[in-house]
Amino acid sequence: MSPQAQAISNLFIFTMIIAGIICLGIIAVIVFSVVRYRVRPGQNGEPPQIFGNTRLEVTWTVIPFIIVTILFGTSITTMLDSSPGQISLQGAAAHNANRIHVVGHQWWWEITYPSGVVTANVIHVPVGQRWVIALNSDDVIHDLWLPQCGPKVDAVPGQTNYMWLECDKAGIYHGACSEYCGAGHAWMLVDVVAEPLATFQAWERRELRPAPAAQSLTPAAGFTSKEVAAGARLFQSFSCQGCHYIQGVTGKSTRPTVDYAPDLTHMGSRSIIGGGVVPNTPYFMEQWLLDPDKIKPGVHMPNFQLSTPQARDLTAYLESLR
Ligand code: CUA
Repeated sequence: MSPQAQAISNLFIFTMIIAGIICLGIIAVIVFSVVRYRVRPGQNGEPPQIFGNTRLEVTWTVIPFIIVTILFGTSITTMLDSSPGQISLQGAAAHNANRIHVVGHQWWWEITYPSGVVTANVIHVPVGQRWVIALNSDDVIHDLWLPQCGPKVDAVPGQTNYMWLECDKAGIYHGACSEYCGAGHAWMLVDVVAEPLATFQAWERRELRPAPAAQSLTPAAGFTSKEVAAGARLFQSFSCQGCHYIQGVTGKSTRPTVDYAPDLTHMGSRSIIGGGVVPNTPYFMEQWLLDPDKIKPGVHMPNFQLSTPQARDLTAYLESLR
């Protein structure tokens, strides 16, 4: 958990305790009143009617006021702790080398590092370092929520929001889009992989390498280089590069600022397909290519009516892009 998320968790528990005490108090008063003031045999007529009791009214105004004031104070402190210095955060985002640009798309996350690494749906960070996320959207409003790493932050088209990302323990932290954004909203998952600095740097170096030509690729397990080469040709002939960039392969000299679909340069090394709808295995990749909409209803990727052998060849190619 990050210090930012810890602050939110502490506030949650504190609020729960106060609410729990109030709840127990109310239950106690109800039970006491029901038992103590129940109708007894031989009793008739209405109980005495009370119209105003200053002492009671002052009590039930002052106590909630104090409670709400305390919660207000702790909420402000938590906001400052979970998202310290929004202004310095913007400044940090402008200058900080530890900056990640995250863009929400229907329905996946595009992640760009200052080093030039572009990836999708899986954010890598070194353990213990504080990073700034600059968050945008390319279409509708999304919301980046990494429960163990800090507050939810909206991804709004045309506006940049900022948040800290700091993981104090190595591991994988799951997150999701937390603002309804259309049919694929439920499958807009995101993972944070917090790893030692050396592992992170090795990952970054690997990600920066352009994809080699198909004939130089090592085929993924279970595939032949013939299938990989055939898949690479299919990638071209079906114009997959119209939406998907593959560094070193796709014909554009400069990559677009914002991708239309996930960068596939290292697709084979990613853990999930379709924003987390299925794990990245050859079986699911093939099913995905055969009918994306069946796997993820509403997905913008069209069904190219591939034959099964074509889907297999394309899978061979994509899974070999590591
Ligand atoms: Cu993006 Cu919900």
